[in-house]
Amino acid sequence: MDKVYVGTNWKMHKTIEEGQVYFRELQEIAKNKDLSMQLFIIPSYTSLIPLKREIDSNILLGAQNMHWEDEGAFTGEVSPTMLKEIGVDLVELGHSERRQFYNENDQDLNKKIQASLKHNIPPLVCIGEHIEQKEFGISRESLSIQLKVCLKGVSQEQVEDVMIAYEPVWAIGEGGVEATSEYVHQMHNHIRNVLVEMFGHVGNNVPILFGGSVNRKNAIDYLQGENVNGLFIGRSAWDLQKFEPILDDIERFIQNSKVAK
Ligand code: PGA
Repeated sequence: MDKVYVGTNWKMHKTIEEGQVYFRELQEIAKNKDLSMQLFIIPSYTSLIPLKREIDSNILLGAQNMHWEDEGAFTGEVSPTMLKEIGVDLVELGHSERRQFYNENDQDLNKKIQASLKHNIPPLVCIGEHIEQKEFGISRESLSIQLKVCLKGVSQEQVEDVMIAYEPVWAIGEGGVEATSEYVHQMHNHIRNVLVEMFGHVGNNVPILFGGSVNRKNAIDYLQGENVNGLFIGRSAWDLQKFEPILDDIERFIQNSKVAK
């Protein structure tokens, strides 16, 4: 894969003003970065339009969620046509917090993924096992089920627009436990195998990003995995003082891998 994807979901953080300050600074940082590093930002809905107006770099902008219907009596929801109008580059679907606090399940996600693909908004599909599933030794099975239900009915052609974020639920957020890089690499290999089983050779083109307590100490170890195509970072990316050194490390990693090729 030519690109290394590095992005952050701001969750319910940053006002418009705070987001703009961050974004302006990140755009300056991004201008000097290796173009193989594809940055993306997923702010809250309120910041999408103001940030979209400011983009003058190759940073992609994504939404944190989306309903599957184009319109209707769904108070509080945002539709694919509304996101399309803003011109977002991607939509994050199925983050574990959406699943945990808003009862989203794989069938709902399947409808959302189908809708996003119909509207040409590339989905970043989040999957990950719970701690109980890991302890019972069924992480692989859980990931297979999530992939097979979420991506049911997606064609070989459409899957080229899909990105996967593997985020073990037990590794995410405050209180999350850092996964070992060995474990992460094994799960990414498994996800790749399932994608190839479902979509043939095209399954090799789907970027698989890792997320969950990614920080400066573990980022490059995770990226060493053959099937780790990027990082999806929460807390360590919300403050540019912490994020910039991680981006510098990733750039060095990309450049060293190019030299090694
Ligand atoms: P974290 O969040 O990096 O703060 O663990 C990751 C995520 O929720 O995507």
